[in-house]
Amino acid sequence: MADLAEILTLEHLAIRHIRKESAHWGAFDQMYEFHRFLKECHIEVEEKIFFPVLKESSWKDSKEFFSQIDMIIADHKLINTLFQNLAKWNNDGNRQLYAERLPLYFKILEEHNDKEENLIFPRWAQVPPDAIRNTVKEALNVEESFGIDRYLSTVGMTKSGFSYTFRT
Ligand SMILES: [Fe+2]
Ligand SMILES: [Fe+2]
Repeated sequence: MADLAEILTLEHLAIRHIRKESAHWGAFDQMYEFHRFLKECHIEVEEKIFFPVLKESSWKDSKEFFSQIDMIIADHKLINTLFQNLAKWNNDGNRQLYAERLPLYFKILEEHNDKEENLIFPRWAQVPPDAIRNTVKEALNVEESFGIDRYLSTVGMTKSGFSYTFRT
């Protein structure tokens, strides 16, 4: 079974790929669907499962490390605000501003993901096994509430790849 840091890294890889695809998106539907995955799955798992486990562990540099986690959580709010602006410009028919700002959303998101991979995810290997034992199962519950088929089509994963990764 993959551990939760590996699963989140895999989703980041999918997001790098989706960023390239987004240059060819016409309708807002694809953006809407992507952001739903990002917010309801990826960020939900990070904020409700992954970061809390890290915050419950003890670190020599906990003050600095926890403030990095808080900055990462603040990024999530910023990314969500960028999406809300995009949705508004789309609704208002302001396609020019929408088309100009869509790349900015993905740029900020990718920089954010890179920060997570550099500063946060490597710590997972130092968390005691007992603390991470149920985390993949908990992430699976989040993905089930979101919808497995929806998850697979966004991430670009097969059902059997998913079953192997999550040991369903
Ligand atoms: Fe994140
Ligand atoms: Fe992430």
